Amino acid sequence: MRVVLLFSSAALIAASPFTPKKAEPAKPLTAAQKADFTKVIQPMFDAHCVSCHGPKKEKGKLRLDTLEATLKGGKNPTFVIGKPDSSMLLSRVFLDRTAGDVMPPKAEKPMTEKQKEALYAFVEGQPIPDELAKAALADTKAALAAAKTAAAEAKAAPKAKK
Ligand code: HEC
Repeated sequence: MRVVLLFSSAALIAASPFTPKKAEPAKPLTAAQKADFTKVIQPMFDAHCVSCHGPKKEKGKLRLDTLEATLKGGKNPTFVIGKPDSSMLLSRVFLDRTAGDVMPPKAEKPMTEKQKEALYAFVEGQPIPDELAKAALADTKAALAAAKTAAAEAKAAPKAKK
């Protein structure tokens, strides 16, 4: 009897509209989408997100260092291809730079418009146009180079603060 009761209340919870949203079953990505991810999106995440969402730190239980991890999401789903308007990840990236929740956080180097546009196109399920892909990649490379220089300088310079 007890088992039956437990079971039926679990069924009720599952049917309730207040059940926390689970990631929708995603369609497998096409080969072209995977290629766009590898070429344009992953380097962008590597440059701007993986320091906090990767093997070393997993903020918000989210890792963005592989396609699988990105699609899996963190505490919340990241995005479903074809549904950019309900994407948690996109909304945080597109927030105003003054917003407390913006990603990458305020103190970090922001992503450029081209990078954000490319990310949006990818989540929309559109092929990233060549010109946009090139521009986004150039911005990603510039960000990586700047980070490298900053790291080298920090290493070379004796600590200013005691
Ligand atoms: C300096 C560290 C840092 C960087 C860099 C960073 N994040 Fe975050 N991120 C956080 C922290 C801390 C949280 C958890 C608290 C919160 O949700 O605000 C978080 C949470 C998130 C979440 C919500 C996760 C969830 O499931 O609730 C998303 C989405 C996200 N980040 C996306 C990004 C993206 C995309 C980038 C790169 C463009 C990025 N973050 C770069 C620190 C960072």
